[in-house]
Amino acid sequence: MYTQELIATAKAMVAPGKGILAADESYGTANKRFEKIGIPTTEEKRRAYREALFTTPGIGEFLSGVILFDETIRQATKDGKPFTKLLLEAGIIPGIKLDAGAKPLAKSPDETITEGLDGLRDRIAEYYKMGARFAKWRAVITIGDGIPSHRCIDTNANALARYAALCQEGGLVPIVEPEVLMDGDHTLERSYAVHHDVLKAVFDALYVQGVEPDQMILKPSMVISGQDCPQQASVEDVARLTIKCLRERVPAAVPGCAFLSGGQSDEVATAHLNAMNATFKDQLPWKLTFSYGRALHQAALEAWKGEDANISAAQKELYRRAKCNSAASLGQYASEMERVAA
Ligand code: 13P
Repeated sequence: MYTQELIATAKAMVAPGKGILAADESYGTANKRFEKIGIPTTEEKRRAYREALFTTPGIGEFLSGVILFDETIRQATKDGKPFTKLLLEAGIIPGIKLDAGAKPLAKSPDETITEGLDGLRDRIAEYYKMGARFAKWRAVITIGDGIPSHRCIDTNANALARYAALCQEGGLVPIVEPEVLMDGDHTLERSYAVHHDVLKAVFDALYVQGVEPDQMILKPSMVISGQDCPQQASVEDVARLTIKCLRERVPAAVPGCAFLSGGQSDEVATAHLNAMNATFKDQLPWKLTFSYGRALHQAALEAWKGEDANISAAQKELYRRAKCNSAASLGQYASEMERVAA
């Protein structure tokens, strides 16, 4: 019933030069990041921070969407304008995190299964009414000794697919996010092999659940060396193997892949996205853009420090990262932009 709307929304989410801001940190994650900088972990501080991000002048030029957390989608600016309205006025589509987080997988203590399917149909209906037009669900895959297990990959793929089917039924474009963590000392090649298996399982499960590939967005991790691997792959090799993997596994009908940053440094995440687009853009069936959390707004958080007086400095940081990543989504980023962008 929502077919045309879903197709249009998915296309708009990966419009040229635009990407998605992940500002959907749960209470726990947001508070952990606040604590590190000494910001009080109150609802008002979380609201004020999101207001600072969303009111960044000109940010709509680079963002197609913002992913919100349940608390945030119900919040408003201090003048009382709902965040959903504020974003829509800036030409930004509001989205909502639907998963309830990664919990230990039964009989496999080093792995997780993402929960949140119970009652999901009703939650989707409520968020649609509140103005959300897309959603996100993150599955977490860890590389280590003997893991990921088939059980972990298949169970998470099944949950992602059931979530995505419910989203499409209820009018939300599902962002399907199978994150392969960069934690560990695995090589680039092992990362490639695991991404390959995970994406195969995910698209098989999506097919089984009847998920339409032209009405979803994939949010993949990049194929990179484990952060403790002594041999760190070059930007070119990351771009080459990430593209090889996506080409082998992602149907051409998917409108776009919007990467997570996963703990990469700001500039490295931008350089990887840029290299993929600069080298391969004209040969790919889907758009490649960003849906970063930390690599888009961690610098802004550190500049803000919880103080009103720093809002403009924080907004400059977000603007700079968004502008650089927008350029990277077109394959037009150069590191000199880091010094002049804001
Ligand atoms: P990072 O870019 O910080 O990995 O966050 C993206 C995200 O939405 C994780 O679910």
